[in-house]
Amino acid sequence: MASPFKWIDERVDLVGVRKALLDRKMPGGLTWFHTLGSASLTVFAVQVVTGIVLAMYYSPSPDHAYDSIRYLQDQVVSGSTLRGIHHWGASAMVVLVLAHMTRVFVMGAYKYPREINWLIGVVLLFIVLGFGFTGYLLPWDQKAYWATQVGTNIAGTAPIVGGILVRLLRGGSQLGAATLARFYALHVLLLPLMLFIAVLLHLAIIVRQGIAPRTKALDADAPTHTSDAEYPAFYKKAYDRSKGAGVPFWPDITTKDVVMGAAIVLILLQLARSFGAGLEPPADPTDSSYVPRPEWYFLPFFQLLKLVPGSMESFVAVGIPAVLVIVLVLLPFFDRKSTRSFSKRPLARASLLAIAGSCVLLVGASMAEDSAEAVAPETGRPLSSVQRAGRALYAAQGCGSCHAIGGKGGGTKEDAPPLTEIGLKHSGAWLHSFLENPLRFHSETKMPSFGPPTLSHQEIEEMTRYLVTLRGPNGDLKKPEFVDTFPPAPKSKE
Ligand code: HEC
Repeated sequence: MASPFKWIDERVDLVGVRKALLDRKMPGGLTWFHTLGSASLTVFAVQVVTGIVLAMYYSPSPDHAYDSIRYLQDQVVSGSTLRGIHHWGASAMVVLVLAHMTRVFVMGAYKYPREINWLIGVVLLFIVLGFGFTGYLLPWDQKAYWATQVGTNIAGTAPIVGGILVRLLRGGSQLGAATLARFYALHVLLLPLMLFIAVLLHLAIIVRQGIAPRTKALDADAPTHTSDAEYPAFYKKAYDRSKGAGVPFWPDITTKDVVMGAAIVLILLQLARSFGAGLEPPADPTDSSYVPRPEWYFLPFFQLLKLVPGSMESFVAVGIPAVLVIVLVLLPFFDRKSTRSFSKRPLARASLLAIAGSCVLLVGASMAEDSAEAVAPETGRPLSSVQRAGRALYAAQGCGSCHAIGGKGGGTKEDAPPLTEIGLKHSGAWLHSFLENPLRFHSETKMPSFGPPTLSHQEIEEMTRYLVTLRGPNGDLKKPEFVDTFPPAPKSKE
Protein backbone atom coordinates (compact mmCIF):
# COMPACT_ATOMS: atom_id res chain seq x y z
CA MET A 1 0.00 0.00 0.00
CA ALA A 2 1.28 3.48 -0.94
CA SER A 3 2.10 6.12 1.66
CA PRO A 4 -0.81 8.24 2.86
CA PHE A 5 0.75 11.28 1.18
CA LYS A 6 0.85 9.51 -2.16
CA TRP A 7 -2.68 8.20 -1.71
CA ILE A 8 -4.04 11.70 -1.12
CA ASP A 9 -1.78 13.25 -3.78
CA GLU A 10 -3.18 10.93 -6.45
CA ARG A 11 -6.65 12.18 -5.63
CA VAL A 12 -6.29 15.91 -4.87
CA ASP A 13 -2.88 16.73 -6.43
CA LEU A 14 -1.00 17.88 -3.31
CA VAL A 15 2.15 18.42 -5.36
CA GLY A 16 0.26 20.78 -7.66
CA VAL A 17 -1.09 22.69 -4.68
CA ARG A 18 2.40 23.01 -3.28
CA LYS A 19 3.72 24.28 -6.61
CA ALA A 20 0.94 26.83 -6.93
CA LEU A 21 1.13 28.10 -3.35
CA LEU A 22 4.55 27.53 -1.86
CA ASP A 23 7.02 27.28 -4.75
CA ARG A 24 5.83 30.38 -6.58
CA LYS A 25 8.50 32.95 -7.25
CA MET A 26 8.21 36.36 -5.59
CA PRO A 27 9.93 39.59 -6.66
CA GLY A 28 13.19 40.24 -4.80
CA GLY A 29 13.89 42.93 -2.23
CA LEU A 30 10.61 42.72 -0.32
CA THR A 31 10.73 44.64 2.97
CA TRP A 32 9.35 44.03 6.45
CA PHE A 33 6.53 46.37 5.47
CA HIS A 34 5.43 43.63 3.10
CA THR A 35 4.63 41.39 6.09
CA LEU A 36 1.86 43.69 7.39
CA GLY A 37 -0.83 41.97 5.35
CA SER A 38 0.02 38.52 6.61
CA ALA A 39 0.36 39.93 10.14
CA SER A 40 -3.25 41.17 9.88
CA LEU A 41 -4.22 37.64 8.87
CA THR A 42 -2.41 36.22 11.90
CA VAL A 43 -4.27 38.56 14.25
CA PHE A 44 -7.53 37.63 12.54
CA ALA A 45 -6.79 33.99 13.37
CA VAL A 46 -6.04 34.97 16.97
CA GLN A 47 -9.37 36.84 17.14
CA VAL A 48 -11.26 33.84 15.79
CA VAL A 49 -9.74 31.46 18.34
CA THR A 50 -10.08 33.77 21.36
CA GLY A 51 -13.52 34.89 20.15
CA ILE A 52 -14.83 31.33 20.04
CA VAL A 53 -13.75 30.72 23.64
CA LEU A 54 -15.21 34.06 24.77
CA ALA A 55 -18.50 33.14 23.10
CA MET A 56 -18.62 29.98 25.21
CA TYR A 57 -18.85 32.10 28.36
CA TYR A 58 -20.73 35.11 27.06
CA SER A 59 -24.44 35.66 27.47
CA PRO A 60 -25.85 38.34 25.14
CA SER A 61 -28.60 39.83 27.28
CA PRO A 62 -28.54 43.03 29.35
CA ASP A 63 -29.28 41.03 32.51
CA HIS A 64 -26.41 38.61 32.12
CA ALA A 65 -23.82 40.07 29.72
CA TYR A 66 -21.92 42.02 32.35
CA ASP A 67 -21.97 39.22 34.90
CA SER A 68 -20.82 36.69 32.34
CA ILE A 69 -17.78 38.87 31.59
CA ARG A 70 -17.13 39.41 35.29
CA TYR A 71 -17.29 35.66 35.83
CA LEU A 72 -14.87 35.06 32.96
CA GLN A 73 -12.46 37.66 34.35
CA ASP A 74 -12.58 36.60 37.99
CA GLN A 75 -13.33 32.88 38.02
CA VAL A 76 -12.10 31.31 34.79
CA VAL A 77 -8.45 30.31 34.62
CA SER A 78 -6.66 32.70 32.24
CA GLY A 79 -10.04 34.26 31.49
CA SER A 80 -8.84 37.81 31.88
CA THR A 81 -5.77 37.12 29.73
CA LEU A 82 -7.96 35.61 27.06
CA ARG A 83 -10.25 38.62 27.05
CA GLY A 84 -7.20 40.89 27.11
CA ILE A 85 -5.81 39.25 23.98
CA HIS A 86 -9.12 39.67 22.15
CA HIS A 87 -9.33 43.30 23.29
CA TRP A 88 -5.80 44.21 22.24
CA GLY A 89 -6.12 42.04 19.14
CA ALA A 90 -8.99 44.26 17.98
CA SER A 91 -6.79 47.33 18.22
CA ALA A 92 -3.89 45.49 16.59
CA MET A 93 -6.15 44.52 13.73
CA VAL A 94 -7.04 48.16 13.03
CA VAL A 95 -3.40 49.26 13.36
CA LEU A 96 -2.14 46.52 11.05
CA VAL A 97 -4.84 46.93 8.42
CA LEU A 98 -4.25 50.70 8.33
CA ALA A 99 -0.48 50.19 8.21
CA HIS A 100 -0.85 47.62 5.42
CA MET A 101 -3.09 50.00 3.49
CA THR A 102 -0.62 52.83 3.95
CA ARG A 103 2.17 50.57 2.68
CA VAL A 104 0.14 49.71 -0.41
CA PHE A 105 -0.65 53.39 -0.95
CA VAL A 106 2.97 54.52 -0.48
CA MET A 107 4.30 51.89 -2.87
CA GLY A 108 1.61 52.60 -5.46
CA ALA A 109 0.60 48.95 -5.31
CA TYR A 110 -3.08 49.83 -5.85
CA LYS A 111 -2.28 50.71 -9.47
CA TYR A 112 -2.71 48.43 -12.49
CA PRO A 113 -3.40 45.50 -12.26
CA ARG A 114 -4.35 45.53 -8.55
CA GLU A 115 -7.35 47.91 -8.57
CA ILE A 116 -9.84 45.18 -7.63
CA ASN A 117 -7.75 43.95 -4.75
CA TRP A 118 -7.50 47.52 -3.45
CA LEU A 119 -11.31 47.67 -3.45
CA ILE A 120 -11.53 44.41 -1.53
CA GLY A 121 -9.01 45.90 0.89
CA VAL A 122 -11.27 48.92 1.42
CA VAL A 123 -14.17 46.56 2.17
CA LEU A 124 -11.95 44.70 4.64
CA LEU A 125 -11.09 47.94 6.44
CA PHE A 126 -14.75 48.74 6.97
CA ILE A 127 -15.53 45.21 8.12
CA VAL A 128 -12.75 45.52 10.71
CA LEU A 129 -14.17 48.85 11.92
CA GLY A 130 -17.59 47.18 12.08
CA PHE A 131 -16.12 44.50 14.34
CA GLY A 132 -14.74 47.22 16.60
CA PHE A 133 -18.03 49.09 16.81
CA THR A 134 -20.18 46.02 17.51
CA GLY A 135 -17.67 44.40 19.88
CA TYR A 136 -17.42 47.52 22.01
CA LEU A 137 -21.01 47.12 23.23
CA LEU A 138 -20.80 43.47 24.26
CA PRO A 139 -19.33 43.83 27.80
CA TRP A 140 -22.39 46.00 28.61
CA ASP A 141 -20.48 48.23 31.00
CA GLN A 142 -20.84 52.00 31.25
CA LYS A 143 -18.24 52.64 28.56
CA ALA A 144 -19.87 50.18 26.18
CA TYR A 145 -23.37 51.50 26.70
CA TRP A 146 -22.63 55.21 26.42
CA ALA A 147 -20.19 54.97 23.52
CA THR A 148 -22.77 52.99 21.55
CA GLN A 149 -25.43 55.50 22.51
CA VAL A 150 -23.29 58.21 20.95
CA GLY A 151 -22.31 56.08 17.96
CA THR A 152 -25.89 55.21 17.06
CA ASN A 153 -26.95 58.84 17.63
CA ILE A 154 -24.38 59.93 15.05
CA ALA A 155 -25.89 57.52 12.53
CA GLY A 156 -29.24 59.11 13.36
CA THR A 157 -28.14 62.54 12.18
CA ALA A 158 -27.91 61.32 8.58
CA PRO A 159 -30.39 63.17 6.37
CA ILE A 160 -33.54 61.25 5.31
CA VAL A 161 -32.33 57.74 6.28
CA GLY A 162 -31.12 58.75 9.78
CA GLY A 163 -34.24 57.63 11.62
CA ILE A 164 -34.39 54.29 9.86
CA LEU A 165 -30.68 53.74 10.40
CA VAL A 166 -30.94 54.24 14.16
CA ARG A 167 -33.88 51.85 14.40
CA LEU A 168 -32.03 49.33 12.29
CA LEU A 169 -28.93 49.52 14.49
CA ARG A 170 -30.76 49.59 17.82
CA GLY A 171 -33.54 47.23 16.90
CA GLY A 172 -35.99 49.83 18.23
CA SER A 173 -35.91 53.45 19.25
CA GLN A 174 -33.99 52.76 22.46
CA LEU A 175 -30.66 51.09 23.09
CA GLY A 176 -31.49 47.87 24.90
CA ALA A 177 -31.81 44.10 24.75
CA ALA A 178 -32.61 44.15 21.03
CA THR A 179 -29.49 46.20 20.30
CA LEU A 180 -27.27 43.84 22.24
CA ALA A 181 -28.70 40.79 20.46
CA ARG A 182 -28.24 42.50 17.11
CA PHE A 183 -24.68 43.60 17.73
CA TYR A 184 -23.83 40.13 18.98
CA ALA A 185 -25.27 38.49 15.86
CA LEU A 186 -23.38 40.91 13.63
CA HIS A 187 -20.18 40.45 15.61
CA VAL A 188 -20.13 36.65 15.65
CA LEU A 189 -22.09 35.69 12.53
CA LEU A 190 -22.40 38.23 9.75
CA LEU A 191 -19.12 40.13 10.03
CA PRO A 192 -16.93 37.01 10.37
CA LEU A 193 -18.63 35.51 7.32
CA MET A 194 -18.09 38.69 5.30
CA LEU A 195 -14.51 39.00 6.48
CA PHE A 196 -13.81 35.39 5.65
CA ILE A 197 -15.10 35.70 2.10
CA ALA A 198 -13.32 39.01 1.50
CA VAL A 199 -10.04 37.64 2.85
CA LEU A 200 -10.29 34.53 0.64
CA LEU A 201 -10.82 36.69 -2.45
CA HIS A 202 -8.04 39.05 -1.40
CA LEU A 203 -5.61 36.14 -1.00
CA ALA A 204 -6.71 34.33 -4.16
CA ILE A 205 -6.02 37.46 -6.18
CA ILE A 206 -2.62 37.93 -4.55
CA VAL A 207 -1.69 34.35 -5.42
CA ARG A 208 -2.86 34.88 -9.01
CA GLN A 209 -1.17 38.24 -9.54
CA GLY A 210 1.83 37.92 -7.30
CA ILE A 211 2.81 40.63 -4.85
CA ALA A 212 3.72 44.07 -6.22
CA PRO A 213 7.49 44.42 -6.62
CA ARG A 214 9.62 47.29 -5.31
CA THR A 215 8.64 50.54 -7.03
CA LYS A 216 11.89 50.90 -9.02
CA ALA A 217 11.25 47.70 -10.95
CA LEU A 218 8.08 49.16 -12.50
CA ASP A 219 9.07 52.83 -12.89
CA ALA A 220 12.04 52.59 -15.28
CA ASP A 221 11.01 53.26 -18.91
CA ALA A 222 7.31 52.92 -18.06
CA PRO A 223 4.65 54.52 -20.31
CA THR A 224 3.35 57.61 -18.45
CA HIS A 225 -0.13 56.25 -17.74
CA THR A 226 -1.32 52.84 -16.67
CA SER A 227 -4.23 53.36 -19.07
CA ASP A 228 -1.87 53.60 -22.07
CA ALA A 229 -2.35 50.79 -24.57
CA GLU A 230 1.22 49.56 -24.23
CA TYR A 231 1.20 49.53 -20.39
CA PRO A 232 -0.04 45.94 -19.84
CA ALA A 233 2.69 44.52 -22.08
CA PHE A 234 5.31 46.70 -20.36
CA TYR A 235 4.01 45.64 -16.96
CA LYS A 236 4.17 41.95 -17.77
CA LYS A 237 7.77 42.20 -18.97
CA ALA A 238 8.93 44.30 -16.04
CA TYR A 239 7.15 42.05 -13.53
CA ASP A 240 8.56 38.85 -15.00
CA ARG A 241 12.02 40.40 -14.90
CA SER A 242 11.69 41.28 -11.21
CA LYS A 243 10.36 37.81 -10.46
CA GLY A 244 13.25 36.23 -12.34
CA ALA A 245 15.64 37.90 -9.91
CA GLY A 246 13.36 36.96 -7.00
CA VAL A 247 13.00 34.35 -4.29
CA PRO A 248 10.57 31.46 -3.68
CA PHE A 249 7.58 32.08 -1.39
CA TRP A 250 8.63 29.10 0.72
CA PRO A 251 10.83 29.39 2.72
CA ASP A 252 12.14 32.91 2.05
CA ILE A 253 8.95 34.96 2.37
CA THR A 254 7.12 32.67 4.80
CA THR A 255 9.99 32.87 7.31
CA LYS A 256 9.66 36.64 7.53
CA ASP A 257 5.88 36.37 7.81
CA VAL A 258 6.12 33.82 10.62
CA VAL A 259 8.68 35.90 12.54
CA MET A 260 6.46 38.98 12.27
CA GLY A 261 3.32 37.02 13.21
CA ALA A 262 5.00 35.43 16.23
CA ALA A 263 6.33 38.79 17.42
CA ILE A 264 2.86 40.29 17.26
CA VAL A 265 1.26 37.38 19.12
CA LEU A 266 3.86 37.77 21.88
CA ILE A 267 3.20 41.51 22.10
CA LEU A 268 -0.55 40.85 22.38
CA LEU A 269 0.03 38.35 25.16
CA GLN A 270 2.19 40.82 27.04
CA LEU A 271 -0.34 43.64 26.64
CA ALA A 272 -3.13 41.33 27.80
CA ARG A 273 -1.15 40.28 30.88
CA SER A 274 -0.05 43.78 31.86
CA PHE A 275 -3.12 45.83 31.06
CA GLY A 276 -6.03 43.39 30.66
CA ALA A 277 -9.13 44.63 28.96
CA GLY A 278 -10.69 46.78 31.65
CA LEU A 279 -14.27 46.58 32.83
CA GLU A 280 -16.19 49.55 34.14
CA PRO A 281 -19.28 49.36 36.34
CA PRO A 282 -22.32 47.78 34.63
CA ALA A 283 -24.26 49.89 32.14
CA ASP A 284 -26.56 52.32 33.89
CA PRO A 285 -28.96 53.92 31.39
CA THR A 286 -30.08 56.46 34.01
CA ASP A 287 -26.59 57.84 34.68
CA SER A 288 -26.56 60.58 32.07
CA SER A 289 -23.58 62.23 33.76
CA TYR A 290 -21.30 59.57 32.31
CA VAL A 291 -18.82 60.98 29.80
CA PRO A 292 -18.69 58.59 26.83
CA ARG A 293 -15.48 57.84 25.02
CA PRO A 294 -15.30 55.82 21.81
CA GLU A 295 -12.51 53.36 21.02
CA TRP A 296 -9.30 55.21 20.07
CA TYR A 297 -9.61 54.63 16.33
CA PHE A 298 -12.94 56.44 16.23
CA LEU A 299 -11.50 59.35 18.25
CA PRO A 300 -10.40 61.60 15.35
CA PHE A 301 -13.90 61.43 13.89
CA PHE A 302 -15.56 61.89 17.29
CA GLN A 303 -13.41 64.89 18.10
CA LEU A 304 -14.08 66.48 14.72
CA LEU A 305 -17.80 66.26 15.40
CA LYS A 306 -17.30 68.04 18.72
CA LEU A 307 -15.44 70.86 16.98
CA VAL A 308 -17.97 71.67 14.27
CA PRO A 309 -20.92 73.90 15.15
CA GLY A 310 -24.22 72.10 15.82
CA SER A 311 -25.83 73.14 12.55
CA MET A 312 -22.97 71.54 10.59
CA GLU A 313 -22.82 68.39 12.67
CA SER A 314 -25.12 66.15 10.67
CA PHE A 315 -23.42 67.30 7.49
CA VAL A 316 -19.97 66.33 8.82
CA ALA A 317 -21.22 63.16 10.52
CA VAL A 318 -22.35 61.72 7.21
CA GLY A 319 -20.12 63.72 4.89
CA ILE A 320 -16.73 62.68 6.23
CA PRO A 321 -17.29 58.88 6.12
CA ALA A 322 -18.96 59.24 2.72
CA VAL A 323 -16.07 61.25 1.27
CA LEU A 324 -13.61 58.78 2.77
CA VAL A 325 -15.34 55.83 1.10
CA ILE A 326 -15.64 57.62 -2.24
CA VAL A 327 -12.00 58.71 -2.26
CA LEU A 328 -10.74 55.26 -1.32
CA VAL A 329 -12.94 53.55 -3.90
CA LEU A 330 -12.11 55.92 -6.74
CA LEU A 331 -8.40 56.23 -6.00
CA PRO A 332 -7.13 53.47 -8.32
CA PHE A 333 -9.40 54.61 -11.14
CA PHE A 334 -8.45 58.30 -11.04
CA ASP A 335 -4.78 57.94 -10.31
CA ARG A 336 -3.67 56.60 -13.69
CA LYS A 337 -0.10 57.91 -13.55
CA SER A 338 2.25 54.97 -13.81
CA THR A 339 4.80 56.45 -11.36
CA ARG A 340 4.94 54.36 -8.19
CA SER A 341 7.90 55.85 -6.29
CA PHE A 342 6.50 57.83 -3.38
CA SER A 343 9.21 60.47 -3.77
CA LYS A 344 7.89 61.30 -7.24
CA ARG A 345 4.20 61.59 -6.21
CA PRO A 346 3.92 64.98 -4.47
CA LEU A 347 0.13 64.92 -4.29
CA ALA A 348 0.09 61.46 -2.68
CA ARG A 349 2.69 62.63 -0.15
CA ALA A 350 0.78 65.79 0.70
CA SER A 351 -2.53 63.89 1.12
CA LEU A 352 -1.05 61.24 3.38
CA LEU A 353 0.65 63.90 5.50
CA ALA A 354 -2.56 65.94 5.73
CA ILE A 355 -4.69 62.95 6.77
CA ALA A 356 -2.19 61.52 9.26
CA GLY A 357 -1.43 64.99 10.63
CA SER A 358 -5.05 65.92 11.22
CA CYS A 359 -5.76 62.55 12.89
CA VAL A 360 -2.84 63.05 15.27
CA LEU A 361 -3.96 66.60 16.09
CA LEU A 362 -7.55 65.52 16.69
CA VAL A 363 -6.55 62.62 18.93
CA GLY A 364 -4.20 64.94 20.81
CA ALA A 365 -6.96 67.51 21.31
CA SER A 366 -9.36 64.85 22.50
CA MET A 367 -6.87 63.39 24.97
CA ALA A 368 -6.08 66.84 26.34
CA GLU A 369 -9.79 67.52 26.80
CA ASP A 370 -10.33 64.15 28.44
CA SER A 371 -7.64 64.66 31.02
CA ALA A 372 -8.89 68.17 31.73
CA GLU A 373 -12.50 67.29 32.34
CA ALA A 374 -13.31 63.65 32.60
CA VAL A 375 -10.34 61.48 33.53
CA ALA A 376 -8.71 61.59 36.94
CA PRO A 377 -4.95 61.74 36.26
CA GLU A 378 -4.11 59.79 39.42
CA THR A 379 -6.09 56.76 38.26
CA GLY A 380 -6.59 57.35 34.55
CA ARG A 381 -10.27 56.62 35.12
CA PRO A 382 -13.14 58.63 33.72
CA LEU A 383 -15.20 60.15 36.52
CA SER A 384 -18.90 60.91 36.64
CA SER A 385 -19.93 64.42 37.60
CA VAL A 386 -20.64 63.32 41.18
CA GLN A 387 -17.22 61.71 41.44
CA ARG A 388 -15.62 64.83 39.99
CA ALA A 389 -17.36 66.94 42.63
CA GLY A 390 -15.97 64.57 45.28
CA ARG A 391 -12.51 64.90 43.82
CA ALA A 392 -12.74 68.69 43.97
CA LEU A 393 -13.82 68.53 47.63
CA TYR A 394 -10.91 66.22 48.39
CA ALA A 395 -8.57 68.90 47.06
CA ALA A 396 -10.43 71.80 48.70
CA GLN A 397 -10.47 70.15 52.16
CA GLY A 398 -6.72 69.54 52.05
CA CYS A 399 -6.97 65.75 52.42
CA GLY A 400 -3.87 65.63 50.22
CA SER A 401 -1.80 67.39 52.86
CA CYS A 402 -1.94 64.24 55.01
CA HIS A 403 -2.86 61.46 52.54
CA ALA A 404 -1.07 60.35 49.40
CA ILE A 405 -2.75 58.92 46.30
CA GLY A 406 -0.47 57.00 43.94
CA GLY A 407 2.59 58.50 45.62
CA LYS A 408 1.35 62.09 45.20
CA GLY A 409 0.59 64.28 48.19
CA GLY A 410 0.74 63.35 51.84
CA GLY A 411 3.29 64.38 54.43
CA THR A 412 5.22 62.43 56.95
CA LYS A 413 3.16 64.02 59.70
CA GLU A 414 0.28 62.22 61.45
CA ASP A 415 1.01 58.81 59.79
CA ALA A 416 -1.96 59.20 57.52
CA PRO A 417 -2.23 56.02 55.40
CA PRO A 418 -2.06 56.40 51.60
CA LEU A 419 -5.46 56.17 49.92
CA THR A 420 -4.18 54.75 46.61
CA GLU A 421 -6.22 51.55 46.96
CA ILE A 422 -8.82 52.63 49.49
CA GLY A 423 -11.63 51.58 47.11
CA LEU A 424 -10.46 47.97 47.38
CA LYS A 425 -10.17 48.11 51.16
CA HIS A 426 -13.39 49.75 52.28
CA SER A 427 -16.98 49.89 51.08
CA GLY A 428 -18.69 53.18 50.31
CA ALA A 429 -20.89 52.79 53.40
CA TRP A 430 -17.87 52.43 55.67
CA LEU A 431 -16.03 55.36 54.11
CA HIS A 432 -19.06 57.59 54.48
CA SER A 433 -19.43 56.86 58.20
CA PHE A 434 -15.69 57.13 58.78
CA LEU A 435 -15.36 60.56 57.14
CA GLU A 436 -18.35 61.78 59.06
CA ASN A 437 -16.92 60.87 62.42
CA PRO A 438 -13.55 59.09 62.58
CA LEU A 439 -13.51 59.40 66.37
CA ARG A 440 -16.29 56.85 66.58
CA PHE A 441 -13.94 54.36 64.92
CA HIS A 442 -10.71 55.18 66.76
CA SER A 443 -10.98 57.41 69.78
CA GLU A 444 -7.33 58.42 69.42
CA THR A 445 -7.44 59.17 65.72
CA LYS A 446 -5.62 62.14 64.23
CA MET A 447 -7.96 62.15 61.29
CA PRO A 448 -10.19 65.24 61.51
CA SER A 449 -13.98 64.85 61.41
CA PHE A 450 -15.64 66.11 58.28
CA GLY A 451 -19.27 65.58 59.27
CA PRO A 452 -21.68 68.53 59.45
CA PRO A 453 -21.15 71.41 59.85
CA THR A 454 -17.78 71.06 58.02
CA LEU A 455 -19.31 69.20 55.08
CA SER A 456 -22.92 68.31 54.35
CA HIS A 457 -24.05 64.68 54.05
CA GLN A 458 -24.39 65.28 50.36
CA GLU A 459 -20.76 66.42 50.12
CA ILE A 460 -19.49 63.51 52.17
CA GLU A 461 -21.34 61.17 49.85
CA GLU A 462 -19.75 62.86 46.82
CA MET A 463 -16.32 62.45 48.34
CA THR A 464 -17.11 58.80 49.12
CA ARG A 465 -18.10 58.19 45.51
CA TYR A 466 -14.70 59.52 44.49
CA LEU A 467 -12.78 57.51 47.08
CA VAL A 468 -14.29 54.20 45.92
CA THR A 469 -12.81 54.77 42.44
CA LEU A 470 -9.32 54.61 43.97
CA ARG A 471 -8.25 51.04 43.27
CA GLY A 472 -4.59 51.37 42.33
CA PRO A 473 -3.03 50.35 39.01
CA ASN A 474 -5.19 47.90 37.01
CA GLY A 475 -7.89 48.48 39.59
CA ASP A 476 -10.59 47.30 37.21
CA LEU A 477 -9.15 43.82 37.35
CA LYS A 478 -8.95 43.58 41.12
CA LYS A 479 -11.62 42.30 43.41
CA PRO A 480 -12.25 44.45 46.48
CA GLU A 481 -11.74 42.72 49.79
CA PHE A 482 -13.41 44.97 52.29
CA VAL A 483 -12.12 45.02 55.84
CA ASP A 484 -14.92 47.20 57.16
CA THR A 485 -15.21 47.05 60.89
CA PHE A 486 -17.83 49.32 62.33
CA PRO A 487 -17.68 50.52 65.91
CA PRO A 488 -20.38 49.23 68.26
CA ALA A 489 -23.64 51.18 68.05
CA PRO A 490 -23.32 54.47 69.95
CA LYS A 491 -24.56 54.43 73.55
CA SER A 492 -27.82 56.17 74.31
CA LYS A 493 -26.06 59.25 75.77
CA GLU A 494 -24.95 60.26 72.23
C1 HEC B 1 -4.48 66.00 59.61
C2 HEC B 1 -4.19 64.96 58.66
C3 HEC B 1 -5.38 64.35 57.92
C4 HEC B 1 -6.25 64.99 57.08
C5 HEC B 1 -6.31 66.45 56.72
C6 HEC B 1 -7.12 63.98 56.56
N1 HEC B 1 -6.81 62.77 57.10
FE1 HEC B 1 -7.69 61.00 56.64
N2 HEC B 1 -6.55 60.07 58.04
C7 HEC B 1 -5.55 60.68 58.75
C8 HEC B 1 -5.00 59.71 59.70
C9 HEC B 1 -3.88 59.96 60.71
C10 HEC B 1 -5.70 58.49 59.46
C11 HEC B 1 -5.52 57.16 60.17
C12 HEC B 1 -6.47 57.28 61.34
C13 HEC B 1 -7.04 56.03 61.86
O1 HEC B 1 -6.78 54.96 61.31
O2 HEC B 1 -7.84 56.20 62.78
C14 HEC B 1 -6.65 58.75 58.40
C15 HEC B 1 -7.53 57.80 57.88
C16 HEC B 1 -8.30 58.02 56.78
C17 HEC B 1 -9.06 57.02 56.11
C18 HEC B 1 -9.11 55.55 56.47
C19 HEC B 1 -7.91 54.90 55.84
C20 HEC B 1 -7.81 53.43 56.09
O3 HEC B 1 -6.95 52.85 55.40
O4 HEC B 1 -8.56 52.87 56.91
C21 HEC B 1 -9.70 57.61 55.07
C22 HEC B 1 -10.61 56.95 54.05
C23 HEC B 1 -9.36 59.00 55.11
N3 HEC B 1 -8.51 59.22 56.13
C24 HEC B 1 -9.84 59.93 54.21
C25 HEC B 1 -9.59 61.28 54.33
C26 HEC B 1 -10.23 62.29 53.52
C27 HEC B 1 -11.21 62.00 52.39
C28 HEC B 1 -9.78 63.48 53.93
C29 HEC B 1 -10.18 64.86 53.44
C30 HEC B 1 -11.60 65.14 53.55
C31 HEC B 1 -8.83 63.22 54.99
N4 HEC B 1 -8.75 61.90 55.21
C32 HEC B 1 -8.14 64.22 55.66
C33 HEC B 1 -5.14 61.98 58.68
C34 HEC B 1 -5.75 62.96 57.93
